[in-house]
Amino acid sequence: MFNLPEKVTMIEVGPRDGLQNEKLFVPTEIKKQFIVGLRNAGLQEMELTSFVSPKWVPQMSDAAEIVVDCLDGKTRNIVLAPNRKGIDRLYSSDCQAVAVFVGVSNSFNIKNINKTTSDCLMELKPLIRELKEKNYFVRACISTAFYCPYEGKIVESDTIKLCREFVLIGVDELSVADTIGMAAPTEAFSLFTKLKAEFPETMLTAHFHDTRKLALANILASLQAGIVRFDTSAGGLGGCPFAPGAAGNAATEDVVYMFERMGIDTGVNLAKLMDAIEVVRPHLSRQIETGYYRLHAQTI
Ligand code: HMG
Ligand code: MG
Repeated sequence: MFNLPEKVTMIEVGPRDGLQNEKLFVPTEIKKQFIVGLRNAGLQEMELTSFVSPKWVPQMSDAAEIVVDCLDGKTRNIVLAPNRKGIDRLYSSDCQAVAVFVGVSNSFNIKNINKTTSDCLMELKPLIRELKEKNYFVRACISTAFYCPYEGKIVESDTIKLCREFVLIGVDELSVADTIGMAAPTEAFSLFTKLKAEFPETMLTAHFHDTRKLALANILASLQAGIVRFDTSAGGLGGCPFAPGAAGNAATEDVVYMFERMGIDTGVNLAKLMDAIEVVRPHLSRQIETGYYRLHAQTI
């Protein structure tokens, strides 16, 4: 029934997507311990934080300190940056990997970064070229790839067109996102099958929010379309402050559990991942349920 790879790559977005929407400020020291814990659990690629406006996203106001203290030189540490100012902040750090982000939907883009999609592209194109000349790893996060909280269903070919723009400029990776968790597995399979066929040389990553509890089903559908890279967030934290209705990301522990039970190597140790979640749990405004992973950990 299933066409299974031997292993997948998990990109941990908990410290960034997971925490950016938290109401209470998570102390910087706790964020750093969370990052170390996640790395100890085996996560080799991680979004650490964002170089965005602290007025727009106060939770990310300690980004400079996080980056200084959390780069390890061994794993891929990614920082989000939306504009020239964000990229200049990147240049003044030692971080070697950046994620730019743009929505297929204009309305979402204006709410999220105060620019239309095409203005955003105009600003990002020369920045990406410059980043590639300087040998940075560039990831492009494509928001509202399936549905927009303001515009509804997104036409699949519009998403593919935007992805094409970024591939032509030379990004290393596309992280294609179901921002508000509305995609159906059939839609996930369809889009990722087409992206995989058109962009065989580009790293393709699926980023699902779990608003309607379809993230795992969508991940499985994307796996069937040939995708082997998945953005997930420890504890299922997450959501974009400018996308009403966006719940957390697919929980790293759920995805690790599913893949490992299917015989697919994730490189992640579930018990250590649970330890990392315990670091941040007391500082969260929302409840997360992970007890069952501890309960039967010995019998898995
Ligand atoms: P703006 O107000 O239009 O910016 O915001 P501006 O250029 O007019 O500047 C206004 C002020 O912001 C100035 O400071 C700038 O210096 C400062 P002031 O003079 O008022 O003191 N500023 C910055 N400060 C720090 N870092 C920067 C920066 N840029 C300007 N990079 C802006 C435009 C893009 C800055 C703002 O809209 C913003 O920061 N947006 C961030 C939104 C965000 O972080 N969203 C969440 C991440 S995306 C996401 O979660 C989706 C994803 O997970 C995929 C999915 O699920 O869909 C990736
Ligand atoms: Mg997201």
